[in-house]
Amino acid sequence: MKTCFSAIQPTGIPTLGNYLGALRNWVNLSREYTGIFSIADLHAITVRQDPGDFRRRVRAVYAICMASGLDFKNGAVLFPQSQVAAHTELTWILSCFTMYGELSRMTQFKDKSLKNSDNINSGLFTYPILMASDILLYGAAAVPVGSDQKQHVELTRDIAVRFNGVYGDVFVLPEPFIPDMGARVMNLQDPKRKMEKSDPNPNGYISMLDDREAIIKKCKRAVTDSGGEVRYDEKLKPGISNLMTIYSLCAGKSLEETEREFSGQNYGTFKTAVGEAVNTALAPIRDCANEYIGNPAHLDKLMNEQTRRATELAAPMLKQVKNAMGFVAD
Ligand code: TYM
Repeated sequence: MKTCFSAIQPTGIPTLGNYLGALRNWVNLSREYTGIFSIADLHAITVRQDPGDFRRRVRAVYAICMASGLDFKNGAVLFPQSQVAAHTELTWILSCFTMYGELSRMTQFKDKSLKNSDNINSGLFTYPILMASDILLYGAAAVPVGSDQKQHVELTRDIAVRFNGVYGDVFVLPEPFIPDMGARVMNLQDPKRKMEKSDPNPNGYISMLDDREAIIKKCKRAVTDSGGEVRYDEKLKPGISNLMTIYSLCAGKSLEETEREFSGQNYGTFKTAVGEAVNTALAPIRDCANEYIGNPAHLDKLMNEQTRRATELAAPMLKQVKNAMGFVAD
């Protein structure tokens, strides 16, 4: 069976954007692939984290991913990235196969440098090399992500090709798996920006732990144009188009079906329906995640078991890499 890999940063509680763009497909792919998934806590420290909040948040994100329906019977694994040391070790090796110019061209680095202008640390710059290590360590063929991560997966391929060119076919070349719909869910208050879990304004995003009332309130307050027609037009009606995407994915309908369903209805009715559909999609995950969060001893036990499995899965590739390069064997 082929392997897929993906990860999420614990920089906030995962949002509806994370769910529709990525997590949903982690679940789907985990049925066909051996699914290896991680809470990217090492990536998260490129911005400062309060230790207490950070520890609680990693557990909450782990709980949400556990609750999302990953196919553990088919061998899926979920672990905190920092617990498997091979990720950081491979990162150093791969940094010697990654060019300064390549990293400078990463749009996420440019965006994040603008946002964190008081802390442009080198981790922010070398971030994609850690991502490449995450993916290549497990021989992942598919990487389910939203469209913002496409450039990083492409760089991962370039690094793998460069390494293989010198040492033979060590790494599997990964492909990004990006959904046709939902690859970039937009902020509810500013539909020109993507929805982000670390957004300071909670009205801009729906958290996967928001309750029904909060979800409906946020959908009702979503910024839309002054027209009254529920019609998909990303340029002229970005707010309504975003809500249509959200509704269609949560209700399992096409955009055309959604347009037909709400033809002649006002924005208020549509927004309430969006909120209800989102709640129906998220409620089972939220309830299950809250149970895990309420039982931290059980959660830690699962985390430890899964981490042990991931450590075993990661070891052979690191060994193969070091061997191919001529490091003295241990
Ligand atoms: P992160 O934590 O920003 O996001 C997790 C996943 O959610 C997707 N995503 C979105 N999809 C649709 N609409 C949105 N508004 C939206 N916001 C986020 C992201 O594309 C991502 O798939 N660097 C990664 C984490 C990572 C990783 C990896 C991913 C670390 N190592 C290896 C894949 C493979 C990140 O910050 O994702």
